[in-house]
Amino acid sequence: MKGIIFNLLEDFIVDGWGEERFEQIMTGCPLHTSSAFVGPGTYPDSDLFAIVERTTAELGIDTPTALRAFGRYAMPRLAARFDVFVRDHRHPKSFLCTVDGIIHVEVRKLFEHAEPPRIWFEDPSPDKLVLHYHSKRKLCALFEGLLDGTADYFSVPLTREQTACMSDGAPSCDFLLKFSR
Ligand code: HEM
Repeated sequence: MKGIIFNLLEDFIVDGWGEERFEQIMTGCPLHTSSAFVGPGTYPDSDLFAIVERTTAELGIDTPTALRAFGRYAMPRLAARFDVFVRDHRHPKSFLCTVDGIIHVEVRKLFEHAEPPRIWFEDPSPDKLVLHYHSKRKLCALFEGLLDGTADYFSVPLTREQTACMSDGAPSCDFLLKFSR
């Protein structure tokens, strides 16, 4: 996973629970990486999972809840950093339809060794969107948080219903989204 995601995770923990708590979490973490995480660097996924696991144990929250909160926190920050990908959109639906074919394509060009997930969609009606998420990392809770962060960002509430999950053996994690307008 790219360093930018590790850096956002650090910001999320520090903003929510303070620098001292973050240091405490990191001290108890069995990591492969001994140096600082830098944005363009690539680090083992297992290090990210270890930090998440240690954080959830320390704070007494479950992993999906933590990943959802992290995704919601991360989305406006990614949007601020990569304004070019959001500025032409006024609605989450048009934006979400570009994540796989434009944003993550550019991410692969910008960041060597990036492996963003595969996301594809169906467009059943104007107020709905079906999204399919596929990743060896099986981070559909993070995906959900990023969806919630997208709704916040565009101030268009959405409901999401997960209809399949890779963790249950499905080929992808599937979501039906309904937009309030
Ligand atoms: C400006 C917007 C965005 C940018 C710049 C961005 C960029 C990135 C980057 C750099 C990674 C790390 C890839 C790696 O380390 O291999 C990533 C991962 C990811 N992105 Fe995006 N992303 C954006 C929006 C979104 C949105 C809106 C969603 C979902 C609705 C999404 C879903 C994910 C997920 C779930 C991952 C975690 C990796 C995985 O599941 O395997 N991204 N993204």
